[in-house]
Amino acid sequence: MTVSTSVQSATEHQEFNGLNSAVSYSSQMVAAYRAIENGEEDGLFTDPLAEGLAGPAAMQDARTQSPEWKHDAGLPGQKRRKAQYSRMACRTKFIDDCIQQFLHGQPGQKQVVLLGAGMDSRAWRMDVPSGVAWFEVDMADVLLAKQRTLSSLGAQVPAPAGPPDKVTPAASKASSDQHYKHPLRSSSWVSLQADLEGASWQEELKRHGFRANIPTIWVLEGLLMYLGPKAVDSLLSGTSGLSSQGSMLVTMAFNEGALGRDDLTVGDYAKTPAWQTLKSTFKSGVPDQPQQWLQTRGWQAQQVLTYGEVAHLAAGKYGQFAFDTSTTGLAGRRTLFITASPTST
Ligand SMILES: C[S@@+](CC[C@H](N)C(=O)[O-])C[C@H]1O[C@@H](n2cnc3c(N)ncnc32)[C@H](O)[C@@H]1O
Repeated sequence: MTVSTSVQSATEHQEFNGLNSAVSYSSQMVAAYRAIENGEEDGLFTDPLAEGLAGPAAMQDARTQSPEWKHDAGLPGQKRRKAQYSRMACRTKFIDDCIQQFLHGQPGQKQVVLLGAGMDSRAWRMDVPSGVAWFEVDMADVLLAKQRTLSSLGAQVPAPAGPPDKVTPAASKASSDQHYKHPLRSSSWVSLQADLEGASWQEELKRHGFRANIPTIWVLEGLLMYLGPKAVDSLLSGTSGLSSQGSMLVTMAFNEGALGRDDLTVGDYAKTPAWQTLKSTFKSGVPDQPQQWLQTRGWQAQQVLTYGEVAHLAAGKYGQFAFDTSTTGLAGRRTLFITASPTST
Protein backbone atom coordinates (compact mmCIF):
# COMPACT_ATOMS: atom_id res chain seq x y z
CA MET A 1 0.00 0.00 0.00
CA THR A 2 1.24 3.49 -0.76
CA VAL A 3 0.84 6.06 1.95
CA SER A 4 0.45 9.61 0.77
CA THR A 5 3.26 11.81 2.02
CA SER A 6 0.73 14.54 2.61
CA VAL A 7 -0.66 12.59 5.55
CA GLN A 8 0.25 14.47 8.68
CA SER A 9 2.21 12.61 11.29
CA ALA A 10 0.10 12.70 14.43
CA THR A 11 3.18 12.83 16.56
CA GLU A 12 4.80 15.71 14.67
CA HIS A 13 1.70 17.73 15.28
CA GLN A 14 1.24 16.64 18.86
CA GLU A 15 -2.43 16.04 18.29
CA PHE A 16 -2.40 12.32 18.87
CA ASN A 17 -4.51 11.87 15.79
CA GLY A 18 -7.69 13.10 17.43
CA LEU A 19 -7.18 10.95 20.52
CA ASN A 20 -6.61 12.40 23.96
CA SER A 21 -3.02 11.43 24.69
CA ALA A 22 0.20 9.71 23.65
CA VAL A 23 -1.04 6.67 25.57
CA SER A 24 -4.25 6.53 23.54
CA TYR A 25 -2.28 7.03 20.33
CA SER A 26 -0.04 4.08 21.24
CA SER A 27 -3.06 1.86 20.54
CA GLN A 28 -2.99 3.04 16.93
CA MET A 29 0.77 2.62 16.64
CA VAL A 30 0.68 -1.03 17.69
CA ALA A 31 -2.23 -1.60 15.31
CA ALA A 32 -0.08 -0.10 12.55
CA TYR A 33 2.69 -2.61 13.24
CA ARG A 34 0.14 -5.40 13.05
CA ALA A 35 -1.16 -3.99 9.78
CA ILE A 36 2.32 -4.16 8.32
CA GLU A 37 2.67 -7.78 9.41
CA ASN A 38 -0.72 -8.44 7.87
CA GLY A 39 0.70 -7.22 4.58
CA GLU A 40 3.61 -9.70 4.70
CA GLU A 41 3.27 -12.59 2.32
CA ASP A 42 4.13 -15.08 5.06
CA GLY A 43 2.98 -13.08 8.06
CA LEU A 44 2.59 -14.73 11.45
CA PHE A 45 -1.11 -13.80 11.52
CA THR A 46 -3.69 -11.92 9.52
CA ASP A 47 -5.34 -8.78 10.84
CA PRO A 48 -7.34 -7.22 8.01
CA LEU A 49 -8.86 -4.54 10.25
CA ALA A 50 -5.52 -3.34 11.64
CA GLU A 51 -4.71 -0.78 8.97
CA GLY A 52 -8.09 0.91 9.26
CA LEU A 53 -7.94 0.87 13.04
CA ALA A 54 -4.44 2.35 13.01
CA GLY A 55 -5.40 5.14 10.63
CA PRO A 56 -3.15 6.87 8.09
CA ALA A 57 -1.11 8.93 10.58
CA ALA A 58 -0.03 5.95 12.67
CA MET A 59 0.62 3.93 9.50
CA GLN A 60 2.92 6.66 8.32
CA ASP A 61 4.66 6.94 11.67
CA ALA A 62 5.14 3.17 11.87
CA ARG A 63 6.53 2.91 8.35
CA THR A 64 8.93 5.81 8.62
CA GLN A 65 10.21 5.26 12.13
CA SER A 66 11.31 1.65 11.99
CA PRO A 67 14.71 0.74 10.58
CA GLU A 68 15.34 -1.89 7.99
CA TRP A 69 16.03 -5.28 9.53
CA LYS A 70 19.70 -5.81 8.81
CA HIS A 71 20.13 -9.48 9.59
CA ASP A 72 18.59 -11.18 6.67
CA ALA A 73 21.04 -14.05 6.59
CA GLY A 74 20.39 -16.98 8.86
CA LEU A 75 17.35 -19.15 9.02
CA PRO A 76 16.21 -20.75 5.80
CA GLY A 77 13.39 -18.77 4.30
CA GLN A 78 14.19 -15.76 6.41
CA LYS A 79 13.43 -12.56 4.65
CA ARG A 80 14.22 -8.94 5.11
CA ARG A 81 11.86 -7.51 7.68
CA LYS A 82 11.72 -4.42 9.78
CA ALA A 83 12.78 -5.00 13.33
CA GLN A 84 9.92 -3.23 15.00
CA TYR A 85 7.34 -5.02 12.92
CA SER A 86 8.91 -8.39 13.61
CA ARG A 87 8.91 -7.64 17.29
CA MET A 88 5.23 -6.75 17.32
CA ALA A 89 4.46 -9.80 15.19
CA CYS A 90 6.05 -12.12 17.76
CA ARG A 91 4.17 -10.42 20.58
CA THR A 92 0.86 -10.69 18.77
CA LYS A 93 1.42 -14.29 17.76
CA PHE A 94 2.39 -15.37 21.28
CA ILE A 95 -0.76 -13.86 22.76
CA ASP A 96 -2.91 -15.18 19.89
CA ASP A 97 -1.62 -18.67 20.68
CA CYS A 98 -2.38 -18.28 24.40
CA ILE A 99 -5.94 -17.21 23.64
CA GLN A 100 -6.45 -20.00 21.11
CA GLN A 101 -5.17 -22.64 23.53
CA PHE A 102 -7.45 -21.31 26.24
CA LEU A 103 -10.52 -21.16 23.98
CA HIS A 104 -9.98 -24.54 22.36
CA GLY A 105 -8.73 -26.40 25.45
CA GLN A 106 -11.27 -27.55 28.01
CA PRO A 107 -14.83 -27.52 26.64
CA GLY A 108 -17.45 -25.25 28.20
CA GLN A 109 -18.35 -21.60 28.39
CA LYS A 110 -15.47 -19.13 28.32
CA GLN A 111 -14.90 -15.40 28.67
CA VAL A 112 -12.19 -13.22 27.14
CA VAL A 113 -11.43 -9.90 28.80
CA LEU A 114 -9.02 -7.50 27.10
CA LEU A 115 -7.90 -4.84 29.58
CA GLY A 116 -6.45 -1.87 27.70
CA ALA A 117 -7.92 -3.42 24.54
CA GLY A 118 -6.88 -0.56 22.27
CA MET A 119 -7.37 -1.34 18.57
CA ASP A 120 -7.19 -5.10 19.10
CA SER A 121 -9.37 -6.83 16.52
CA ARG A 122 -9.11 -10.39 17.76
CA ALA A 123 -12.89 -10.63 18.27
CA TRP A 124 -13.24 -10.29 14.48
CA ARG A 125 -10.24 -12.26 13.30
CA MET A 126 -9.70 -15.25 15.58
CA ASP A 127 -11.22 -18.69 15.50
CA VAL A 128 -13.61 -18.38 18.44
CA PRO A 129 -15.74 -21.39 19.44
CA SER A 130 -19.42 -20.79 20.09
CA GLY A 131 -20.51 -19.55 23.49
CA VAL A 132 -17.57 -17.24 24.15
CA ALA A 133 -18.38 -13.90 25.82
CA TRP A 134 -15.92 -11.13 24.89
CA PHE A 135 -15.24 -7.97 26.91
CA GLU A 136 -13.02 -5.02 26.05
CA VAL A 137 -12.07 -2.29 28.53
CA ASP A 138 -10.22 0.92 27.66
CA MET A 139 -10.47 4.69 27.86
CA ALA A 140 -13.50 6.36 26.25
CA ASP A 141 -11.61 8.17 23.48
CA VAL A 142 -9.98 4.95 22.29
CA LEU A 143 -13.13 2.86 22.36
CA LEU A 144 -15.28 5.50 20.67
CA ALA A 145 -12.74 5.89 17.86
CA LYS A 146 -12.51 2.13 17.58
CA GLN A 147 -16.26 1.64 17.34
CA ARG A 148 -16.62 4.34 14.69
CA THR A 149 -13.82 2.86 12.62
CA LEU A 150 -15.00 -0.71 12.97
CA SER A 151 -18.46 0.25 11.76
CA SER A 152 -17.03 2.14 8.80
CA LEU A 153 -14.94 -0.90 7.87
CA GLY A 154 -17.96 -3.19 7.79
CA ALA A 155 -17.29 -4.95 11.05
CA GLN A 156 -20.20 -6.27 13.08
CA VAL A 157 -20.41 -3.92 16.05
CA PRO A 158 -23.49 -3.68 18.21
CA ALA A 159 -24.82 -0.14 18.44
CA PRO A 160 -24.62 1.47 21.87
CA ALA A 161 -28.06 1.38 23.43
CA GLY A 162 -29.04 4.66 25.02
CA PRO A 163 -27.68 6.19 28.21
CA PRO A 164 -25.60 5.31 30.09
CA ASP A 165 -23.58 4.97 26.92
CA LYS A 166 -20.41 3.92 28.67
CA VAL A 167 -21.08 0.42 27.50
CA THR A 168 -21.80 -1.24 24.22
CA PRO A 169 -24.11 -4.01 25.38
CA ALA A 170 -23.54 -7.65 24.73
CA ALA A 171 -24.53 -8.38 21.18
CA SER A 172 -25.99 -11.71 20.37
CA LYS A 173 -24.12 -13.05 17.41
CA ALA A 174 -26.47 -12.28 14.59
CA SER A 175 -27.73 -15.16 12.50
CA SER A 176 -27.11 -12.87 9.55
CA ASP A 177 -23.33 -12.74 9.96
CA GLN A 178 -22.90 -12.89 6.23
CA HIS A 179 -24.19 -9.31 5.93
CA TYR A 180 -20.99 -8.10 7.52
CA LYS A 181 -17.61 -7.95 5.85
CA HIS A 182 -16.09 -8.72 9.24
CA PRO A 183 -18.55 -10.68 11.41
CA LEU A 184 -18.02 -10.82 15.12
CA ARG A 185 -16.51 -14.20 16.00
CA SER A 186 -17.54 -14.27 19.65
CA SER A 187 -21.09 -14.97 20.85
CA SER A 188 -21.29 -11.62 22.58
CA TRP A 189 -19.19 -8.49 22.84
CA VAL A 190 -19.10 -5.74 25.44
CA SER A 191 -17.06 -2.58 25.12
CA LEU A 192 -16.63 -0.88 28.49
CA GLN A 193 -15.23 2.62 28.80
CA ALA A 194 -13.35 2.82 32.08
CA ASP A 195 -10.18 4.12 33.66
CA LEU A 196 -8.30 1.07 34.91
CA GLU A 197 -6.55 3.25 37.51
CA GLY A 198 -9.78 2.95 39.49
CA ALA A 199 -11.46 -0.19 40.80
CA SER A 200 -15.05 0.49 39.73
CA TRP A 201 -14.52 -1.15 36.34
CA GLN A 202 -14.71 -4.55 38.02
CA GLU A 203 -18.25 -3.86 39.25
CA GLU A 204 -19.16 -2.38 35.87
CA LEU A 205 -17.91 -5.51 34.16
CA LYS A 206 -20.14 -7.68 36.34
CA ARG A 207 -23.12 -5.40 35.76
CA HIS A 208 -22.64 -5.89 32.05
CA GLY A 209 -22.66 -9.64 31.93
CA PHE A 210 -19.26 -10.81 33.17
CA ARG A 211 -19.66 -13.93 35.31
CA ALA A 212 -17.00 -14.87 37.80
CA ASN A 213 -17.99 -18.54 37.70
CA ILE A 214 -17.01 -18.94 34.03
CA PRO A 215 -13.33 -19.52 33.09
CA THR A 216 -11.80 -16.29 31.85
CA ILE A 217 -8.63 -15.31 30.04
CA TRP A 218 -7.48 -11.85 31.10
CA VAL A 219 -5.32 -10.24 28.42
CA LEU A 220 -3.11 -7.35 29.55
CA GLU A 221 -1.08 -6.65 26.44
CA GLY A 222 1.09 -3.56 26.77
CA LEU A 223 -0.99 -2.16 29.62
CA LEU A 224 0.62 -2.45 33.05
CA MET A 225 3.35 0.16 32.43
CA TYR A 226 0.64 2.82 32.13
CA LEU A 227 -0.84 2.07 35.56
CA GLY A 228 0.57 3.12 38.92
CA PRO A 229 1.70 0.39 41.34
CA LYS A 230 -1.49 0.60 43.43
CA ALA A 231 -3.70 0.21 40.36
CA VAL A 232 -1.60 -2.75 39.20
CA ASP A 233 -1.97 -4.40 42.62
CA SER A 234 -5.70 -3.82 42.63
CA LEU A 235 -6.06 -5.04 39.05
CA LEU A 236 -4.13 -8.24 39.68
CA SER A 237 -5.86 -9.09 42.98
CA GLY A 238 -9.24 -8.06 41.56
CA THR A 239 -8.93 -10.19 38.44
CA SER A 240 -7.73 -13.14 40.50
CA GLY A 241 -10.79 -12.77 42.73
CA LEU A 242 -13.02 -12.79 39.65
CA SER A 243 -11.38 -15.90 38.20
CA SER A 244 -12.86 -19.37 38.47
CA GLN A 245 -10.93 -22.60 37.99
CA GLY A 246 -9.44 -22.86 34.50
CA SER A 247 -8.97 -19.10 34.18
CA MET A 248 -5.69 -17.57 33.14
CA LEU A 249 -3.90 -14.27 32.69
CA VAL A 250 -1.48 -13.34 29.94
CA THR A 251 0.53 -10.16 29.90
CA MET A 252 3.32 -8.47 28.03
CA ALA A 253 4.86 -5.99 30.44
CA PHE A 254 8.05 -4.01 31.03
CA ASN A 255 10.24 -4.77 33.98
CA GLU A 256 11.15 -2.19 36.61
CA GLY A 257 14.61 -1.54 35.14
CA ALA A 258 13.14 -0.83 31.72
CA LEU A 259 11.31 2.35 32.67
CA GLY A 260 12.87 5.43 31.17
CA ARG A 261 15.05 3.53 28.68
CA ASP A 262 15.06 4.30 24.98
CA ASP A 263 16.15 0.84 23.93
CA LEU A 264 12.72 -0.56 24.75
CA THR A 265 12.02 0.33 21.19
CA VAL A 266 14.16 0.31 18.09
CA GLY A 267 15.57 2.67 15.52
CA ASP A 268 14.40 6.19 14.86
CA TYR A 269 11.17 5.76 16.77
CA ALA A 270 13.16 6.09 20.01
CA LYS A 271 14.16 9.63 18.96
CA THR A 272 10.66 10.87 18.20
CA PRO A 273 8.64 13.17 20.46
CA ALA A 274 5.97 10.47 20.45
CA TRP A 275 8.24 7.93 22.10
CA GLN A 276 9.73 10.48 24.51
CA THR A 277 6.22 11.54 25.55
CA LEU A 278 5.02 7.96 25.80
CA LYS A 279 8.07 6.92 27.82
CA SER A 280 7.35 9.66 30.34
CA THR A 281 3.92 8.15 30.99
CA PHE A 282 5.26 4.78 32.17
CA LYS A 283 4.41 4.42 35.84
CA SER A 284 5.41 0.93 36.87
CA GLY A 285 7.22 -2.21 35.88
CA VAL A 286 7.07 -5.82 36.97
CA PRO A 287 9.98 -7.38 38.91
CA ASP A 288 12.64 -9.24 36.93
CA GLN A 289 11.63 -12.46 38.66
CA PRO A 290 7.90 -11.83 39.06
CA GLN A 291 6.82 -15.20 40.52
CA GLN A 292 6.64 -14.18 44.19
CA TRP A 293 5.26 -10.76 43.35
CA LEU A 294 2.46 -12.38 41.34
CA GLN A 295 1.79 -14.95 44.05
CA THR A 296 1.05 -12.23 46.61
CA ARG A 297 -1.39 -10.68 44.14
CA GLY A 298 -3.34 -13.87 43.49
CA TRP A 299 -1.57 -15.32 40.46
CA GLN A 300 0.69 -18.35 40.04
CA ALA A 301 3.15 -17.79 37.19
CA GLN A 302 3.14 -20.54 34.57
CA GLN A 303 5.55 -19.04 32.03
CA VAL A 304 7.87 -16.05 32.30
CA LEU A 305 9.51 -15.41 28.95
CA THR A 306 11.71 -12.68 27.51
CA TYR A 307 11.14 -11.10 24.10
CA GLY A 308 14.06 -13.13 22.83
CA GLU A 309 12.46 -16.37 24.02
CA VAL A 310 9.10 -15.48 22.52
CA ALA A 311 10.84 -14.64 19.24
CA HIS A 312 12.71 -17.94 19.28
CA LEU A 313 9.40 -19.72 19.85
CA ALA A 314 7.97 -17.94 16.82
CA ALA A 315 11.04 -18.72 14.74
CA GLY A 316 10.98 -22.37 15.82
CA LYS A 317 7.25 -22.80 15.30
CA TYR A 318 6.89 -20.94 12.07
CA GLY A 319 10.46 -21.07 10.72
CA GLN A 320 10.12 -17.72 9.08
CA PHE A 321 12.64 -15.39 10.56
CA ALA A 322 15.36 -15.05 13.11
CA PHE A 323 15.25 -12.29 15.62
CA ASP A 324 18.58 -10.95 16.71
CA THR A 325 17.88 -9.48 20.11
CA SER A 326 21.52 -8.46 20.57
CA THR A 327 21.22 -5.85 17.82
CA THR A 328 17.80 -4.52 18.65
CA GLY A 329 18.47 -3.78 22.29
CA LEU A 330 15.79 -6.25 23.28
CA ALA A 331 18.07 -8.74 24.96
CA GLY A 332 17.53 -9.53 28.61
CA ARG A 333 14.48 -9.13 30.70
CA ARG A 334 13.27 -5.62 29.90
CA THR A 335 10.07 -6.97 28.40
CA LEU A 336 8.45 -10.00 29.98
CA PHE A 337 5.69 -12.24 28.69
CA ILE A 338 3.89 -13.90 31.58
CA THR A 339 1.12 -16.46 31.72
CA ALA A 340 -0.42 -17.27 35.09
CA SER A 341 -3.30 -19.10 36.73
CA PRO A 342 -5.29 -17.85 39.72
CA THR A 343 -4.04 -19.05 43.11
CA SER A 344 -7.49 -18.91 44.66
CA THR A 345 -8.97 -21.87 42.70
C1 LIG B 1 0.01 0.19 23.83
S1 LIG B 1 -1.73 0.20 23.83
C2 LIG B 1 -2.05 -1.56 23.72
C3 LIG B 1 -3.41 -1.84 23.19
C4 LIG B 1 -3.72 -3.31 22.95
N1 LIG B 1 -3.65 -4.09 24.17
C5 LIG B 1 -2.78 -3.87 21.92
O1 LIG B 1 -1.81 -4.54 22.29
O2 LIG B 1 -2.99 -3.60 20.75
C6 LIG B 1 -2.12 0.54 25.54
C7 LIG B 1 -3.61 0.65 25.78
O3 LIG B 1 -3.85 0.73 27.19
C8 LIG B 1 -4.87 1.68 27.40
N2 LIG B 1 -4.76 2.25 28.74
C9 LIG B 1 -3.67 2.80 29.31
N3 LIG B 1 -3.97 3.26 30.55
C10 LIG B 1 -5.28 2.98 30.74
C11 LIG B 1 -6.18 3.23 31.82
N4 LIG B 1 -5.80 3.86 32.94
N5 LIG B 1 -7.45 2.81 31.70
C12 LIG B 1 -7.88 2.19 30.56
N6 LIG B 1 -7.07 1.93 29.52
C13 LIG B 1 -5.79 2.34 29.60
C14 LIG B 1 -4.60 2.73 26.34
O4 LIG B 1 -5.71 3.58 26.12
C15 LIG B 1 -4.21 1.90 25.15
O5 LIG B 1 -5.31 1.55 24.36
